[in-house]
Amino acid sequence: MIKAEKIVKTYPSPGGPKTILNGVNFAVGAGEICVVAGPSGSGKSTLLNILGLLDRPDSGSLFINSIDASLMKPEEILAFRNEKIGFVFQHHFLIPELDAWRNIAYPGALKEGGFSEKLKERAMELLDFLKLGNLAYNYPETFSGGESQRIAAARAVFNAPELLIMDEPTGSLDLASKSDVINLILALNRVSKITAVIATHDDFVKKSCGRVFELAAKPAGSSQASRIISLLPPGRAGIKRPL
Ligand SMILES: Nc1ncnc2c1ncn2[C@@H]1O[C@H](COP(=O)(O)OP(=O)(O)O)[C@@H](O)[C@H]1O
Ligand SMILES: [Mg+2]
Repeated sequence: MIKAEKIVKTYPSPGGPKTILNGVNFAVGAGEICVVAGPSGSGKSTLLNILGLLDRPDSGSLFINSIDASLMKPEEILAFRNEKIGFVFQHHFLIPELDAWRNIAYPGALKEGGFSEKLKERAMELLDFLKLGNLAYNYPETFSGGESQRIAAARAVFNAPELLIMDEPTGSLDLASKSDVINLILALNRVSKITAVIATHDDFVKKSCGRVFELAAKPAGSSQASRIISLLPPGRAGIKRPL
């Protein structure tokens, strides 16, 4: 599904250019769940933004479904992102003017030109799955961090994307809510073969999902070392399978 080779990304900083990703190789197969781990500042969000076509690397190659991303036109990138990728951002970015079900159904409303009963039904199913049915008509300003995070996860999967990219999706969640989110991803993975890339430093998420790709902390002046550290079949953490 994704193959990235020798990805380099440098940001300007007051002390001169700072290389965050220095020749990172990464691959995830269709239908695979992969965790990107590493300490804060190691470049997880930077890598996810590149994999999700939100940002471009300075050099290196990125292939998505065997298509060379550097050859895609801006409108092709936009269409690919809208149709095939679901994002959960670290700062969930819910829409304050919409209640929970409309936030979740928003990607569907964009696609179909408005909200409908059909979209509402799907949003309600996702809310129920995440045990948030009671929040359907409430607005984001009243949600806890964990509630917002789960609603953002439901929104990201609403249009059944091929690729789900989640940036620290369980940071504000207790164990029960974490396992609800992971169960949702595992169910989508089984039912629709969704591919997922999840940035996290949460051990529970690492154990529950498949392969762990570790971005090492980068001592100044050294090159970035990244490595695959384990290969576990999904669902090894003994969490309840929903389907
Ligand atoms: N747009 C940017 N401009 C300058 N520096 C950035 C930018 N985005 C991220 N960085 C820096 O790159 C490093 C890696 O950031 P990030 O990818 O967010 O790491 P992580 O998600 O692993 O915590 C950090 O030191 C951060 O300050
Ligand atoms: Mg980050």
